[in-house]
Amino acid sequence: MPNKDVVIVILAAGKGTRLKSSLAKVLHPAGGRTLLEQVVLACLPMKAKKLVAVVGHQADQVRKAIESYDVETVLQQPQNGTGHAMLVAKRALGSAKIAIILPGDAPLIRAEILKALLAAHRAGNSAATILSVVLADPRGYGRIVRKSETQVGAIVEESQLSPEQRELNEINSSIYCFTLGKLWPALAKVKPNNRHREIYLTDAIAVLASGGETVLAQIAPDAREGLGCNTRADLAEVDRVFRERKRDELMAAGVTIQLPETVLIDPEVTAGEDCTLEPGVALLGKSRLGARCRIGAGSVLHDAQLGNDVEVRVHSLVEASRLDNGTIVGPFARLRTGTHLKAGARVGNFVETKKAVVGEGAKVPHLSYVGDAKIGSKANIGAGTITCNYDGVNKHQTTIGDKVFIGSDSVLVAPVRIGNGAYVAAGSTITENVPADALGIARGRQANKKGWAAKRRRELAADKAQAKPARRRVRKAKTGRR
Ligand code: UD1
Ligand code: CA
Repeated sequence: MPNKDVVIVILAAGKGTRLKSSLAKVLHPAGGRTLLEQVVLACLPMKAKKLVAVVGHQADQVRKAIESYDVETVLQQPQNGTGHAMLVAKRALGSAKIAIILPGDAPLIRAEILKALLAAHRAGNSAATILSVVLADPRGYGRIVRKSETQVGAIVEESQLSPEQRELNEINSSIYCFTLGKLWPALAKVKPNNRHREIYLTDAIAVLASGGETVLAQIAPDAREGLGCNTRADLAEVDRVFRERKRDELMAAGVTIQLPETVLIDPEVTAGEDCTLEPGVALLGKSRLGARCRIGAGSVLHDAQLGNDVEVRVHSLVEASRLDNGTIVGPFARLRTGTHLKAGARVGNFVETKKAVVGEGAKVPHLSYVGDAKIGSKANIGAGTITCNYDGVNKHQTTIGDKVFIGSDSVLVAPVRIGNGAYVAAGSTITENVPADALGIARGRQANKKGWAAKRRRELAADKAQAKPARRRVRKAKTGRR
């Protein structure tokens, strides 16, 4: 159901000093997206009239991070506090009745929680409804001071707590619903009475409560969902939660994950039924796996597209590549951007590929570099084959036909073509095209010198026999013995 009387305001202008970073806090990633993006995604299902983000610190980069979403940005410069941020956003909010306000650094919030908060706000007909969290260690947060079982009297920031208030363990998550008609006059009365000389949104709560308005607090069912990220440790914890959610999603969809806590999966990754992910696997970017794929321990796939029954063996790296049905990669293979393995192709250990098409059923089993190359179907590329694609200035193409056999340790100096069905003799340096069905051989001719080695051994033995007595004499002289 759309909420046409509701606007959402994400406060994202702050710097995030406690992260000790040159990057604005909301641009730090967790769960494969920036914190701000995670918050925006949680807000979209609310179907609010408008989504507004208040930006300030590194405003341009922050705007860029959410440019693909329907979010209006408002610049807060300088950043004089969360209340000030709301005043700056006032014009953009227009005539909406209710604002849901969230910090840009609480990425674990879910739409369901926001829906429940809004429902409570509407049902209670309140001026403000706060999402609160009960914490064993509430240090650093603003505390909820209740004036009755149901009503809130104030939010008191850490720096202004009295000794008794220090014991309060219900804290402000910084996620709220405000009835805007009540918020504006209350904010007008808030003074920057704090060490930072900021206008705190939290101070509007006491103004509302003392004016007889209803202020409610809803305790979040899961403490984590309301919590912000202020430190690197918080970021790590939030990332862990997102990763766990993603793995659970894939497991529920029929993917086996061994030692799940060691496996990292980005949010947009998909995998078909009966895929198996071994320990330490990372599936990144927009990687897509068909059914029954097996990804070996320690392998990393980034923007990889896999068909069905693909096997990526241990410790392989696959980037922006397409692996068709039944292909096998690795162990220890590196498939760089623009690699396309057609059905049944194999790329084995210590092979690097780049902008390379490997035809159906073709094999590059070991120790090769294949770059800017097209390999035909059922070709066999011997161990140690190198396509010399680069002349120091330009890249050149190598074309290898169907059913070609390249002998081991061959160098193919591009641009060069090997015709269908041709052979290249092992150890060749191929600089000219090889016609179809021909043998290309390009290496020094071998000469065997009869008896050479035996003669050499005899000579060495004779030398040794002559040298020995001389050495013995020297040693005796040194030790002084006779
Ligand atoms: C805030 C709350 C505190 C609550 C805590 C929960 C205030 C005064 N305090 O404290 O009660 O327990 O969150 O995490 O609100 N921001 C702006 N413009 C500004 C200042 C801040 O947009 O001028 C944004 C920040 O980018 C951030 C959010 O507002 O996303 C909260 O600000 P932050 O400085 O993190 O507040 P806390 O000290 O964590
Ligand atoms: Ca915070």
